[in-house]
Amino acid sequence: MKKMMMMFITFILFFFFCMITSISPLETTTNFTFNGFQHSNLHLDGISSITSNGLLRLTDTSKHNKSHVFFPTPLPFKNSSSGLPLSFSTSFIFSIIPEYKDLTGHGITFVLSHSINLSSTLPSQYLGLFNQTTCFGDPSNHVLAVELDTNLNPDFGDIDNNHLGIDFNSLFSIYASHASYSTADGFKNLSLVSGDPLQVWIEYEQSENSLFNVTIAPISVPKPTVPLISKVVNLSSLVLDEMYVGFTSSTGSFPTSHYILAWSFVLNGKAQAFDLSKLPPLPLVPSKSKPLVLFILLPVIGVILVLMVMAFVLVMMVKKRKKKRYSELLEDWETEYGPQRFSYKDLFLATKGFEDEELLGAGGFGRVYKGVLPKTNIQVAVKKVSHESRQGMREFIAEIISIGKLSHRNLVRLLGYCRREGELLLVYEFMPNGSLDRYLFNEPKSLLDWEQRYRIIKGVASGLLYLHEEWEQVVIHRDVKASNILLDCDMNGRLGDFGLSRLYDHGSDPQTTHVVGTLGYLAPELPNTGKANTSTDVYAFGGFLLELACGRRPIDAKAMPEEMILVDWVYECWKKDQILDARDANLRENYNTEEMKLVLMLGLVCSHPNPKYRPAMRAVMQALDGSAPIPLLSDECWIADNSTFSFRDDDNNTTRYHSLATSFSDV
Ligand SMILES: Nc1ncnc2c1ncn2[C@@H]1O[C@H](COP(=O)(O)OP(=O)(O)O)[C@@H](O)[C@H]1O
Ligand SMILES: *[C@@H]1O[C@H](CO)[C@@H](O)[C@H](O)[C@H]1NC(C)=O
Ligand SMILES: *[C@@H]1O[C@H](CO)[C@@H](O)[C@H](O)[C@H]1NC(C)=O
Ligand SMILES: *[C@@H]1O[C@H](CO)[C@@H](O)[C@H](O)[C@H]1NC(C)=O
Ligand SMILES: *[C@@H]1O[C@H](CO)[C@@H](O)[C@H](O)[C@H]1NC(C)=O
Ligand SMILES: *[C@@H]1O[C@H](CO)[C@@H](O)[C@H](O)[C@H]1NC(C)=O
Ligand SMILES: *[C@@H]1O[C@H](CO)[C@@H](O)[C@H](O)[C@H]1NC(C)=O
Ligand SMILES: *[C@@H]1O[C@H](CO)[C@@H](O)[C@H](O)[C@H]1NC(C)=O
Ligand SMILES: *[C@@H]1O[C@H](CO)[C@@H](O)[C@H](O)[C@H]1NC(C)=O
Repeated sequence: MKKMMMMFITFILFFFFCMITSISPLETTTNFTFNGFQHSNLHLDGISSITSNGLLRLTDTSKHNKSHVFFPTPLPFKNSSSGLPLSFSTSFIFSIIPEYKDLTGHGITFVLSHSINLSSTLPSQYLGLFNQTTCFGDPSNHVLAVELDTNLNPDFGDIDNNHLGIDFNSLFSIYASHASYSTADGFKNLSLVSGDPLQVWIEYEQSENSLFNVTIAPISVPKPTVPLISKVVNLSSLVLDEMYVGFTSSTGSFPTSHYILAWSFVLNGKAQAFDLSKLPPLPLVPSKSKPLVLFILLPVIGVILVLMVMAFVLVMMVKKRKKKRYSELLEDWETEYGPQRFSYKDLFLATKGFEDEELLGAGGFGRVYKGVLPKTNIQVAVKKVSHESRQGMREFIAEIISIGKLSHRNLVRLLGYCRREGELLLVYEFMPNGSLDRYLFNEPKSLLDWEQRYRIIKGVASGLLYLHEEWEQVVIHRDVKASNILLDCDMNGRLGDFGLSRLYDHGSDPQTTHVVGTLGYLAPELPNTGKANTSTDVYAFGGFLLELACGRRPIDAKAMPEEMILVDWVYECWKKDQILDARDANLRENYNTEEMKLVLMLGLVCSHPNPKYRPAMRAVMQALDGSAPIPLLSDECWIADNSTFSFRDDDNNTTRYHSLATSFSDV
């Protein structure tokens, strides 16, 4: 009896197995078209959603957030008999609507991925595609993306803040091109963030020399005949038997909505064209004005009435605008800050109405304007930080003010602040010589000589020591790097922006994976623990020392592969007992050998992957003064030799180099 049961069950199971295996080939989809996403069953995660009128909204206006959208079932991407990738063709219509003009999120990618679970990826410049370990071309990613990148990130070799690129397992595009489309009279530029709907076509034809074509155009023109990017690629090792197709998107500091209006995809075919009349409407698109005929039919008096009402509304609007111009937020608790509280009107006048001509630069937190305060004629730099959350503002201001009391000749003084709806203005001492990075990288106009560099190093070290040990409480800077060091009129280095990264900590969700700081200066333990402390600052200071000594960014996409990650390269030079090879070649022989060696060694010691081997700023200062020897560099768990991986460069060569991030994450 038992035996019979077993046989029966086995039979049933076998039967089901056969059914499933025989049905599944029929069920695999190889093409689909969405003209609006009203009834789609896409896999959504992060902050993506489908709006009630059928738009696929990749991001809402929350900051430092990401989203992924995938077609729910994987597609068979390989020819089962030949094992070669299949041809494919896809097209989509998108629109990017930033809340502030010119200050935008990070863009959209169309992605082929072997996994639908991208939960360990990061937002902002990582585009929701990779994290700080996987972004350098890890071949196990199996991710092919076409990025519509709206931010310039020199760490990833971006060409500008408005480009399309092809990414193989990496955020370094193998090909990239400024957004434009071909017309009868040459290529015409496009803005990805104009808010207008734009259509993209991505086509791949499997053959001996497989071409990968990317084309973009406004929806009002037919598909251009010449693609923007048309390159030979080899997808053999990247594409697996089954791949998911979809989109990723991410926002950074500036609220931006990314929308997809329509999407079609075909394996081994040509993507279907869209019926543009059926596209879901975008929000904020001005509605079509009523036909003029209506007015002609109306009696003359009616017309006059309408005009009068319109004039009235206009006058009211202008009046309201005028009132709003200088409006600011001022709450009771702020009275205690008296002199540190600036009036918006003064700052408005000081910067000539935040004129573009007064713009000193734009950074991760917002724009910085030059100004002259009306009453005192003091030169200031005004940083405009957009910030929507009001919760935590009181604590933050209290902290800003207490930071304003810090006083040291190597810190940029914070003179005060002002608050408006959704906006915080920070007023700093003006630094006439701008930021240090301008004198170091990308063929600078004037080069700093070694004496100047050594003085800047000592100054910044003493400023950081003051923050860490000499004030009444420990202040963590959190973002030490060359572009945050400003130069005063005597070319002294001064630390700016301290404490500002705390803005992220107030009123935000502690569970979201956003890491404050800059790639290449982030201590390896930071992404895991999320806790900034003095030794993560020392790590970033080490990166800064190497920057000054070598005249390079911590990650230099244009350098030779073995020199790409600065700290690894200097370490290799040290191992070969030729640490001076790493020095800035622009200095020629005009430097002090002992000091150069000292700075390079200190840079390595401070950048040690293991925080327990990094010195405190006091010891760093003593080494720089020559009053104590350089702390010893521990060899322990510096670089694991098996942590190499391949990275494809422009010539399609496969080269190998050490990964800073992979080796560090083993620690
Ligand atoms: N106090 C200041 N005096 C003069 N220029 C400044 C001052 N603060 C900032 N800047 C300029 O504004 C630019 C942007 O500053 P910031 O927002 O701090 O950039 P980031 O976030 O990249 O460090 C800097 O590159 C610098 O040239
Ligand atoms: C799309 O798929 C359907 C079946 O799902 C098939 O009948 C049709 O031919 C396909 N179209 C293209 C262009 O491949
Ligand atoms: C990111 O999105 C989630 C889900 O909508 C939200 O809870 C969270 O607050 C957002 N994070 C930030 C930093 O805005
Ligand atoms: C798979 O490859 C074979 C030749 O190797 C070809 O005849 C066949 O058409 C291909 N199938 C598809 C679906 O491309
Ligand atoms: C996605 O992967 C993470 C680990 O990377 C895991 O914790 C999580 O449960 C996975 N999510 C799903 C839906 O599989
Ligand atoms: C980065 O992503 C990979 C794979 O997706 C994951 O294994 C790794 O833990 C992530 N690293 C960090 C620091 O989150
Ligand atoms: C298009 O943009 C590129 C890169 O920004 C620029 O060099 C070029 O002059 C622009 N062309 C036109 C016609 O504006
Ligand atoms: C890609 O573009 C080239 C022109 O540069 C064209 O000859 C080729 O047919 C295109 N390939 C596909 C798959 O559209
Ligand atoms: C593509 O790459 C694979 C290995 O990754 C190689 O076997 C194949 O020959 C390459 N194809 C072409 C056309 O270069």
